[in-house]
Amino acid sequence: MSAPAATGSTSGPILGIETSCDETAVAVYDGERGLLAHRLHSQIALHAEYGGVVPELASRDHVRRINALVREVLAEAGVAPAELGGIAYTAGPGLIGALMVGGAVAAGLATATGKPLIPIHHMEAHLLAPMLEAEPPEFPFLALLVSGGHTLLVAVRGVGAYELLGESLDDAVGEAFDKTAKLLGLPYPGGPHLARLAEQGRPGRFRFPRPMTDRPGLDFSFSGLKTAVLTALPEAASEQDKADLALGFEEAVTETLAIKCARALDQTGFQRLVVAGGVGANLRLRAQLAELARRRGGRVHFPRQIFCTDNGAMIAYTGWARRTQGRAPEGKLFTTPRWLLSELQPPPAST
Ligand code: KG4
Ligand code: ZN
Repeated sequence: MSAPAATGSTSGPILGIETSCDETAVAVYDGERGLLAHRLHSQIALHAEYGGVVPELASRDHVRRINALVREVLAEAGVAPAELGGIAYTAGPGLIGALMVGGAVAAGLATATGKPLIPIHHMEAHLLAPMLEAEPPEFPFLALLVSGGHTLLVAVRGVGAYELLGESLDDAVGEAFDKTAKLLGLPYPGGPHLARLAEQGRPGRFRFPRPMTDRPGLDFSFSGLKTAVLTALPEAASEQDKADLALGFEEAVTETLAIKCARALDQTGFQRLVVAGGVGANLRLRAQLAELARRRGGRVHFPRQIFCTDNGAMIAYTGWARRTQGRAPEGKLFTTPRWLLSELQPPPAST
């Protein structure tokens, strides 16, 4: 947590580059003027026929897209490279080849302009994404991070002050959504498709377990839920049955998350809950957690839906937050596929 401060001016907008998985995303964030521009190219169509992200294809497509996106975003923001206060990029966790594309472009720009390079932890950026909204949460808050690769409950006391309270012991929530969607014959990535199908579902037809809610603790387990869906699948022949099953699954997941959030709020005594990561775009989850916060007299903060999934704005914002708070890690290029949020001080250079 005590990363050495980067040197150089803290003023000037921050360019943020995200290439950790299947979105090439770039944005410019300014401390005074806010988000100046953000653009994203999604690779969903590229990977769809394979039913999942193909790492080598992802890296190559980032290479194809990244330079044009950087140019477009800087032009839209009306910011010349020489005016930037720093260049932030996702250093990890993620697909190593994909990360290296964003890292190389960021490092090249940093060298060419003499601006600081700011390596960013992808999950920290998700966690701070609600700061981009008109009414950002105040510290401290409880963060529920729910993405394709992570399910984390984190006590957040400030930028860089994160205490992991609970995590998934097996599948991440997004992964459970995607695998269940696959079982239902839905296209990749299944989460949003399953959520849309569940809207047609009839409540009460399928009831699945709320894993690990019957014992104390804040960890999660979602792989059993997927197996429960598999077992129930023969009962879901028609489209209506499938929608009913999708709803049963979604209810089990969102209720489990809400139960653990309530428990973590009790444990920390925090009033504010922040929900981020791709599954944070799920409307049932948003409604359930809003209701939880209302009942407790607290508040829940979500990023707008496009900033729940991977984006450049959260990287640019986190770069700015780290710079201005003197907590930016040393400006050396590194990328790492695995990086625990609890070990936010970056590991030694791996590339
Ligand atoms: O944060 P994200 O864009 O990428 C990772 O860092 O993993 O999260 C992607 C995950 C996928 O598993 C996707 O299916 C899920 O978020 N997701 C959703 C919804 N939108 C995206 N899951 C459920 N309901 C949604 N509306
Ligand atoms: Zn993500």
